[in-house]
Amino acid sequence: MSKTVLIGSQWGDEGKGKIIDVLTANVDWVVRYQGGNNAGHTVEIGDQKYVLHLTPSGILREDCKCVIGNGLVVDIIGLVEELSELVERGIKLDDRLFISDRAHMVLQYHKELDGAKEGNRGEGEKIGTTKRGIGPAYIDKADRIGLRLGDILEDDFLEMVRTQAEAKNKVLAGMGAKEVDIEKLQDQVKEAADYLRPFICDTIPLLHEAVQNDDEILFEGAQGVMLDVDFGTYPFVTSSSTGAGGAPAGSGIPPNAIDRVVGIVKAYTTRVGGGPFPTELHDEMGAHIAKVGNEFGATTGRPRRCGWFDGVVARYSAMVGGINEWALMKLDVLDAVETIRVCVAYECDGERLTTVPASIRKLERCKPVYEDFKGWNTPTTGCTSWDELPDQAQKYVQYLEKLTGVKVSILSVGPKRSSTLLLGKS
Ligand code: GDP
Ligand code: IMO
Ligand code: MG
Repeated sequence: MSKTVLIGSQWGDEGKGKIIDVLTANVDWVVRYQGGNNAGHTVEIGDQKYVLHLTPSGILREDCKCVIGNGLVVDIIGLVEELSELVERGIKLDDRLFISDRAHMVLQYHKELDGAKEGNRGEGEKIGTTKRGIGPAYIDKADRIGLRLGDILEDDFLEMVRTQAEAKNKVLAGMGAKEVDIEKLQDQVKEAADYLRPFICDTIPLLHEAVQNDDEILFEGAQGVMLDVDFGTYPFVTSSSTGAGGAPAGSGIPPNAIDRVVGIVKAYTTRVGGGPFPTELHDEMGAHIAKVGNEFGATTGRPRRCGWFDGVVARYSAMVGGINEWALMKLDVLDAVETIRVCVAYECDGERLTTVPASIRKLERCKPVYEDFKGWNTPTTGCTSWDELPDQAQKYVQYLEKLTGVKVSILSVGPKRSSTLLLGKS
């Protein structure tokens, strides 16, 4: 049985939730390993739509067990809201949801700090964070002062919260930002802690046993490689390791247990928040893609910036992510586009670049080199096999495979489970 990591390979929102759900039909475990509720993973089943932020998308399949791994930063109040809503909608959690006692906590003061830091950044410097407290919580983790989910099990947990909140209030006051009401925070935290206590455990032996049993395990990446704190467009990134390398670090699974990495890519590119985006479209075509693709953030509702497929980004993600195969998403969004452009390289300071430079100043100077591609001008959402796809759509997929050196094993032509073509492994 395979141990598969699924990672976003652009700037997030590629359709990870949908693919996890499709693949979870025959899977024993789904594991989240990094990020927090900055993620918004959409799953559409029949007329039901779910947006999951912290809960692994496998929760929607009854036989699947789900792990929130040690690498996450967990907004405990946000998680309780999310879980309560799932329970209201008929999802069972008992004996299926396991939350690592090593995962770190996001509390109200992290969110206030996130907002205050963004507010203090000048024009052009704003990261456009989701304001979910992700950066400040990872700072506390690296600073070795963070509270972890396992602390909920300690008698003096609420005192720990007070000590942390008092220290953070001083920082907030120094920034001229709103301080946290500590009594109120303690009350809210107590309620959340009571709800979550039964789910908190040491998930590492659990996952090791799953590996020993040769269970089928999916690792659900959040964000995307271009938002990775090391490999992305730093500093316009999130604060975790979003690539496949994050999976062992954020779950405790041995690195050599992983045998498959699926990169999720859209047939075009989107980005939400600030930072360079070489193939971004500021014209009617960008607006067309945004409208047809319904490109609005699943977490913040912000409009996503849209642009053409960037082959440099995809090749780079495949390289650092160790991607064996693509899940190519939202091909249907290009159905009515007459001429589709694909970026094959960048031109920068008189040089041709085929990989993403570290410096965002340089990346901002990069001009995409495009190849043009005739569109298919036919709806694809009803297609259920490769042979039913219009000729030009097949050619586009094959073209992207050749450009990136990675085969497409899954092709998505609509948001529903049924609009998915499994093309076989590379
Ligand atoms: P994630 O964060 O990677 O899970 O992606 P999001 O859920 O934030 O955004 C993907 C959006 O595209 C969601 O609204 C999905 O329902 C939708 N979606 C996924 N696959 C397809 C597809 O093949 N075609 C279309 N039209 N929509 C899709
Ligand atoms: P999923 O998992 C798209 C972006 C934010 C911002 C930057 C830093 O749904 O693909 P943060 O709040 O993490 O400090 O923000 O990262 N960002 C995402 N963009 N999809 C996401 O998650 C994202 N999570 C964070 O917009 O630019
Ligand atoms: Mg999303």
